[in-house]
Amino acid sequence: MADTSSNDAFVEFERVQKSYDGEILVVKDLNLQIPKGEFLTMLGPSGSGKTTCLMMLAGFETATHGEIKLDGRPINNIPPHKRGIGMVFQNYALFPHMTINENLSFPLEVRKIGKSDREAKVKRALDMVEMGDFGGRRPAQLSGGQQQRIALARALVFEPELVLMDEPLGALDKQLREKMQFEITDLAHRLGITVVYVTHDQTEALTMSDRVAVFDDGRIQQIAPPDELYESPQNSFVAQFIGENNTLEGTVKELSEGLALVQLDDGEMVDCMPVNVSKVGERTKVSIRPERVEFQKERLKEGAHMLKATVKEFIYMGDVFRTRLSVAGNDDFIIKSRNAPDQVRLKPGQQIEIGWLHEDCRALDA
Ligand SMILES: Nc1ncnc2c1ncn2[C@@H]1O[C@H](COP(=O)(O)OP(=O)(O)OP(=O)(O)O)[C@@H](O)[C@H]1O
Ligand SMILES: [Mg+2]
Repeated sequence: MADTSSNDAFVEFERVQKSYDGEILVVKDLNLQIPKGEFLTMLGPSGSGKTTCLMMLAGFETATHGEIKLDGRPINNIPPHKRGIGMVFQNYALFPHMTINENLSFPLEVRKIGKSDREAKVKRALDMVEMGDFGGRRPAQLSGGQQQRIALARALVFEPELVLMDEPLGALDKQLREKMQFEITDLAHRLGITVVYVTHDQTEALTMSDRVAVFDDGRIQQIAPPDELYESPQNSFVAQFIGENNTLEGTVKELSEGLALVQLDDGEMVDCMPVNVSKVGERTKVSIRPERVEFQKERLKEGAHMLKATVKEFIYMGDVFRTRLSVAGNDDFIIKSRNAPDQVRLKPGQQIEIGWLHEDCRALDA
């Protein structure tokens, strides 16, 4: 297909809104550009609008406002089966009256692919999901996880340019799930397939994706590559939603380029990066990752502010130590340290001082 768009987006949502009942917007203002070959994951709480977005892209729902484009062309008037999109939806069942082989062959027949070619492609797709011996069965004769794998094979068998997947690995055990995660990303990258993927599992999102879009309340809160999302969350919601995070509440006391001094509600002062605070006097949630907290002064910069903390619980996890502290009124403040030979094991009741490099601590919206 020729690219007729002004930018290089393969999939594009422009100011898309969606309401099912004509009143409540479940997708509020979606702007999203996905370049060809990108693996993009939508991650967010239940009801935040992820499936609705996939359904609009697939053509099973229409946008209330705005436009969706595929390869530069509006798709509003193209019916689902003409969009050339591979899909794995939770409720998009296999054809029950067909065998597994027939289920997989069907999208190829529709595309007028010859018999011997079809057989080779079906076999390859079944082998990929480790279901090579099941071609003759019907869907009802398979377990839930096996059906899910067949659905995955069927979505990929015709090597579509775009694949939509809504929790495709939900029914699989951890080992098979991790194997399939690798198979899917490997295949997508090898064939240059663009993937829009939905999952509840943030580890899955971080490990598989080129970019992750974090949804909340019908909006994208942040869209970024996994490392940027984890290390530079742009607001409190994203900081809390992705990975483990400690939050302390306070008020901005001083603000300069690259440094905010925040007074916590118990009176203590901390140094942070101003991320979305704009003036002195503003309320803020200070956000710091457990692995970036130090309790050995020599590892901090001279003059850095320290906070008093009481050890509540020490949890030995093998590779890391996870210690729960009480800090500035927060009894669930977690720190993580690597299990090294010289690492200190803190004991409940112990009084310590903690601190951090100010660039690891982010002053976010309250
Ligand atoms: N067919 C429908 N008719 C009316 N409301 C709907 C319909 N489908 C979804 N909704 C509502 O739209 C909102 C978004 O739903 P959606 O299925 O997109 O969420 P989601 O992010 O996929 O959630 P989950 O993670 O639970 O699958 C929810 O409040 C849901 O109740
Ligand atoms: Mg959903």
